[in-house]
Amino acid sequence: MSEARIADFFTDVSVIEDPVAYFEDARNRGAVWREPHHGAFVVTGHDEMVEVFRDTDRFSSCNAFGGPFPGLPEEPPGDDASALIEQYRHIFPSHESLITFDPPMHSDHRGLMMRLLTPRRLKENEDFMWRLADELIDTFAARGSAEFIGEYAQPFALLVIADLLGVPEADHGELRRRMVAKGPAGSVGQRVEGNFLAHLEDFFTGYVEQRRREPKDDVLGKMALATFSDGSVPEVIDVVRVATILFAGGQGTAARFLGNLLKHVAEHPELQRRLRAEPEQIPAFVEEALRLFSPVKCTFRMARHTTTLAGVRIPAGSTLVLLLGAADRDERRFESPAEFRAQRPNVREHVAFGRGIHSCPGAPLVRAEGPITLERMLHRLDDLRISEAHHGPAGSRRYEYTPTYILRGVEALHLEFRPAG
Ligand code: HEM
Repeated sequence: MSEARIADFFTDVSVIEDPVAYFEDARNRGAVWREPHHGAFVVTGHDEMVEVFRDTDRFSSCNAFGGPFPGLPEEPPGDDASALIEQYRHIFPSHESLITFDPPMHSDHRGLMMRLLTPRRLKENEDFMWRLADELIDTFAARGSAEFIGEYAQPFALLVIADLLGVPEADHGELRRRMVAKGPAGSVGQRVEGNFLAHLEDFFTGYVEQRRREPKDDVLGKMALATFSDGSVPEVIDVVRVATILFAGGQGTAARFLGNLLKHVAEHPELQRRLRAEPEQIPAFVEEALRLFSPVKCTFRMARHTTTLAGVRIPAGSTLVLLLGAADRDERRFESPAEFRAQRPNVREHVAFGRGIHSCPGAPLVRAEGPITLERMLHRLDDLRISEAHHGPAGSRRYEYTPTYILRGVEALHLEFRPAG
């Protein structure tokens, strides 16, 4: 284990600018180790992380949305923190949202969500994405330059999820305004507190109540009338919270991922030529980009019982930081992990979308949004490059990164190009 001081993942701005250096440092300290700043256990090993994701008896998601703060307010009396977790569940950020639920409650709410993301609805949504991509590119193609995040990634991610759910167009602007005003979760040095999505709930309450009165054949309509597995009808607020987390979860993440993807492509002209010539390679390319440039750096769990992981003793009630980006660079799982190799045989084994019961329900959307965006951008625009005027010359680029320990991405990405002949 390295003895040198390690940065504080939760407060140190250097980690925002270069999370990869932190991932490497963290991996060099072991598959599981205790970080000194908050006393949390950092998981960097791929196998160990999958073990944590899959074992909901040993590890609770109660703190999945909160960072290392706050832990339990009391020391567990012995080797079992289960009772305290239930007693204090309500103090954890976003405890109203299924991302922090454990079974059996999680199963019911997740079931509500998954029954709605049907292959038919996803296919219709994908058709919409192809049209939308071209419409957005039309707004800047002739100009020869664009600020990709504001002019493409954010509106694309918003309109895709709004289309999926059936959110009326008249409300898109206000919903977006509220999300921007709220900012992303996990700002460096700050605690995530309370119900992170409360600012969206009145809109979705209106949609669900209206659809309970007048059924409508859209995702929100189906969600409004769906029942739990035992046949009982969920409270309106339960449905609202499933809808808001889909709506909000689908934007900041997807928009940042598209930014990370284009930032890489714009730096590599040879890659652009190859993907243009062989567009069938794009899905594998996007998959490898998820492994190396995922917009979600970490998630959290709490040990229900005293346990060991990779030989490290973890006391009941401890916080685990699942460092997704580090596990996706585990050389025990990925040969030459730092290299971008879209052809690696296990390209889909990354943990960018987590694993197990909480694994990302938005994965099929992202796996359509990424390839469609790339295909259309490469088809419509030639010679994509980073704007030196805005980001400086190759080798010493300047970017403003979103200052959060949860998400990874740039606030603005200025691109230049020629409209394809
Ligand atoms: C590249 C983009 C995305 C990445 C990397 C990502 C990553 C993740 C990860 C790692 C988790 C698991 C968290 C945990 O187990 O603690 C998760 C859960 C979740 N994601 Fe995503 N996500 C992305 C896009 C989306 C989109 C587009 C949506 C919505 C359409 C979405 C909605 C959700 C929801 C609702 C959960 C909670 C699921 C549950 O707790 O059962 N995500 N995501």
